[in-house]
Amino acid sequence: MTDLDNAPALLILDDASLAAETVGRRIASALSRDPATVLGLATGNTMRPVYAWLVQSYRRREITFHRATSFNLDEYVGLPPGHSASFARFMQEHLFGQVDCDPRRAHLLNGLAPDLTAEAARFEAAISAAGGIGLQLLGIGLQLLGIGRNGHIGFNEPGAAFTSTTRAVTLTPSTRAANLQSFPAGETVPDRALTLGIGTILRAREIVLLATSPSKASAVAAAFAGSISPHCPASALRLHGAVTLVCDRAAAAGLDPTAFPRSAQPP
Ligand code: GLP
Repeated sequence: MTDLDNAPALLILDDASLAAETVGRRIASALSRDPATVLGLATGNTMRPVYAWLVQSYRRREITFHRATSFNLDEYVGLPPGHSASFARFMQEHLFGQVDCDPRRAHLLNGLAPDLTAEAARFEAAISAAGGIGLQLLGIGLQLLGIGRNGHIGFNEPGAAFTSTTRAVTLTPSTRAANLQSFPAGETVPDRALTLGIGTILRAREIVLLATSPSKASAVAAAFAGSISPHCPASALRLHGAVTLVCDRAAAAGLDPTAFPRSAQPP
């Protein structure tokens, strides 16, 4: 296999809404092919329109989640699931509470676990017991500072080992600053989180990374046109043979599409 064989498939859509719809269709098609698909799910503003599209598709009775299993990427340490900025609450509001998924198979990391190492090990074991993640949905992370070398995935910050597994991590000040907008006024962003490791993410059979808006252009360029290094966690995705990078035009501004030999077709 050559390096080019591992290059992600790149799909550039005209705007963020079309990019989100493309990812929604990709998930819908995975669920149609295999209703028991194991999904790796992400949170963040980028994902809102993806889940909105999936909820509409569910309401049109095109898809069902009742046999699907899901694992979420990450959660803040110390936030109760009902907190307005917790990823558990995000998932409940944007997807789980609006479709027919089985709560017993919608796996979330527990940021309140008394033993975070045991909680991380429990999650890894549950992923293995489910047969591994089939389709991992990722949003590229934005650190407001150091833009250009800041592509975290999950909460794997720059420097995280490509072999890392699920664990508790310390968040960088720039990630905490970027995520402050999700917290009520006067509250601070926790300085720790639980996250799937980069190694765990790379074990997914298929990965879809969605990046929209000009604010992601530098991170996308660093990850997919720069060097492959732990300094840019998302660059690890170029070691995986089945990544689809879905961008709107703004997020893809720093990429040369001719450098991506595989072009992805919307399902
Ligand atoms: C958080 C999450 C990431 C997510 C990132 C970007 O840091 N841990 O998984 O990709 O936010 O979020 P947004 O889509 O809001 O820019």
